[in-house]
Amino acid sequence: MGTPQKATGETDLAYVENVARSIARHLVSYRLVVEKSTVPVQTGQWVAQTIKASLKKAAPFDVASNPEFLREGTAIQDFMKPDRVVLGVEGKRARDLLYALYKPLEVPIVVTDITSAELIKHASNSFLSMKISYINAIAQLCERCGADVQQVAEGMGLDPRIGKAFLNAGLGFGGFCLPKDLDAFIKISEQLGYDFELLKAVRAINEQQKLSFSSKIQQALRVVKGKTVGVLGLAFKPNTDDMRYAPAINVIEYLVGEGATVQAFDPQAMNEAARLFPRLRPCKDPYEAARGAECLVILTEWNEFKELDFSRLRKLMRQPLIIDGRNIYDPQRMCKLGFRYIGVGRGRDAAH
Ligand code: UGA
Repeated sequence: MGTPQKATGETDLAYVENVARSIARHLVSYRLVVEKSTVPVQTGQWVAQTIKASLKKAAPFDVASNPEFLREGTAIQDFMKPDRVVLGVEGKRARDLLYALYKPLEVPIVVTDITSAELIKHASNSFLSMKISYINAIAQLCERCGADVQQVAEGMGLDPRIGKAFLNAGLGFGGFCLPKDLDAFIKISEQLGYDFELLKAVRAINEQQKLSFSSKIQQALRVVKGKTVGVLGLAFKPNTDDMRYAPAINVIEYLVGEGATVQAFDPQAMNEAARLFPRLRPCKDPYEAARGAECLVILTEWNEFKELDFSRLRKLMRQPLIIDGRNIYDPQRMCKLGFRYIGVGRGRDAAH
């Protein structure tokens, strides 16, 4: 079930409640009701109470939590080969049923109580957000002291206690999961009487990171108004057309707000972008997005942007300026190819 966000940041449980009631109305014999949505901790207990209160006739049931850890773009692989399966169960019948279901995957299965399973999902997503904000904060330092965040991340990530994953500095995290789940976890903690200041800082760094990217564009162009900016990548990450909470939205809003003409290409998100930004000039490939542009900004790290015909690109552009929000290019190589290249967290002199 979808668990969207209310204006307050809390999770909207209306869909979950509807389904719980509907299950209750149809329950005639034992059923195991499995909660897979990302829900606030203790929702399992509430679902059990809701079902109990709506039963038409007495029928046995259990509720279990089996959080879903799929990522957009790699969902099938994540399902078939998960790092772990978490089963939050209370009672042997529920445990045996779920265990038998997942056993064929031959992956680590963690069995916990329901509340702990619910917390594992929130704690994991917020930890991932924290890693991204951490490296983005390091990127800010790198820009101020002349270090390269890619090298710093590599050196940090080889320590298995830290790990390489999710240390890519960039525009900040987006999508329909990390930002929403972070807000929800902060709210849940508040309701439990704990002020999760660490996560508030994670959120603030993420917002700051998006603003900081727009100000890079402003600093490089000096005057944004009336200029043509080419954009490569709109989706919140590669291999999806999803633009929900995509950092690209903030950047395009900024550019359009300043009076720039934005021409963009994304391998999958063009329809979504046209719906969100009717004034955006859609392009059929990266070269069309670069044509006549005073600056090319990279907002999603699609593989196909990594190897382009750079001499063709340079000739098409009005000025050879690339501002790379995903650090997909090597600054020295770009310099050699005749571009002024600005990445994220890539040294004091990255702009020259
Ligand atoms: C995320 C989690 O990674 C999944 O484990 C979880 O199951 C899922 O949410 C969910 O709750 O359903 P997803 O939203 O598909 O998955 O996307 P991620 O791959 O986590 O990326 C989220 C954002 O972080 C993207 O905008 C991406 O560009 C950004 N990111 C990621 C970085 O900026 N740096 C990184 O190093 C990694």
